Amino acid sequence: MRTKISLKLWCMIVCTVLFLQLAKAQNNTTTKMPLTGELALLPPMGWNSWNAFGTNLDESALKAVVDAYVASGMRDAGYKYFSLDDTWSTMERDSNGNLVADPKKFPHGMKALADYVHSKGLKFGIYNCAGWRTCAGYPGSRGHEYQDALLYASWGVDLLKYDWCNTDSLNTEEAYKTMSRALRATGRPIVFSICEWGSHKPWLWPNGIGEQYRTTGDIGPGFVVGKKFGDWQGQGVLQILDAQMLIRKYNRPNHWNDPDMLEVGNGMTYNEDKSHFSLWCMLAAPLITGNDLRKMSDQTKTILTNKDAIAIDQDTLGISAFKVPLADSLELYVKPMKDAGLALCFLNRTATAKKIDLKWSNLIVSDDVSGITVKFAETAFRTHNIWTKKNGSTKGTFKQDIGAHDVIVLRLTKL
Ligand code: GLA
Repeated sequence: MRTKISLKLWCMIVCTVLFLQLAKAQNNTTTKMPLTGELALLPPMGWNSWNAFGTNLDESALKAVVDAYVASGMRDAGYKYFSLDDTWSTMERDSNGNLVADPKKFPHGMKALADYVHSKGLKFGIYNCAGWRTCAGYPGSRGHEYQDALLYASWGVDLLKYDWCNTDSLNTEEAYKTMSRALRATGRPIVFSICEWGSHKPWLWPNGIGEQYRTTGDIGPGFVVGKKFGDWQGQGVLQILDAQMLIRKYNRPNHWNDPDMLEVGNGMTYNEDKSHFSLWCMLAAPLITGNDLRKMSDQTKTILTNKDAIAIDQDTLGISAFKVPLADSLELYVKPMKDAGLALCFLNRTATAKKIDLKWSNLIVSDDVSGITVKFAETAFRTHNIWTKKNGSTKGTFKQDIGAHDVIVLRLTKL
């Protein structure tokens, strides 16, 4: 009896030691993750506080957003980052020059929130700015880059969005390089999201510096033009879309053109939200949602968790769509996909419903970025409508009604 008990005990000890070693090995794997070059092989997917919360950050509300993130199925659909934007800190650094989480907004501090986010299987993102103050006037990182990076790493930050306000005569590339080096020096893999609104052509220089870079000014909920807030006018979905066409060739894994966060669920019509999301997926853009996940309607959830749309965005080739103008002011966006597949997005950017009447065999699409030319008279595809889930083929004629500000998105695989 005695021997049996001690044998059991011995087994338990051995098992515990093995378990601890395994856990340690897994931790080591995390720290051995690449620090640059492979952090974002697919466009990052997540949620950011700015579009829904603005400056009204509040720990308990944000924890409820984390809960809703999981309960709504957003995490399981592939969204990963939970990021705070501007205004999370106190107005001044502490006596050691450290940033401090505003104790009124975050009574338990930032590490506790990061731990909560991680405990739900998500990653934690934070915001700061290359200037001496952030865009909302909070302490920026200028002159504190390495100190701030170490603090973020100690909190368990996985992504940093880095803005460009109050930068005076700073050299853009150098400023972002400094923060990038500071992040890499922490030894923690932290995705670096460059946010200088496209003003210094960030598509030309972020290789090895950051994984994504904003390409335009701020989005504001609005399809044709963005909403106006006081004297500030946001950019609309179509304005941002048009700007992406000029720089699509720079989009690639770990080097993502960022057309700004999503405004799905923030006041546009169902068609507009569906088009906005579809187009961002066609662009292979980072999918950073910006709606209040606690109050998300079923319609919004259906859009944001559409698996076929997300699969278009997350295609491993990372090629951004090109535009083919069609008759009657309709547009077709074409995204070359892996396995010689394609995604097609018909867009009606006008305010009146229209009819698509396309003889497939007349369609030839050609792309100088990916080097593909597809003559539909010679190559036939199976088609899957990602919103209606109807299947078909590229034989005969494609006749469909398309509503105002609406899209029809087809995923094509070779027959
Ligand atoms: C800039 C950025 C926005 C947001 C605000 C916060 O305008 O472009 O995305 O981060 O700052 O102040």
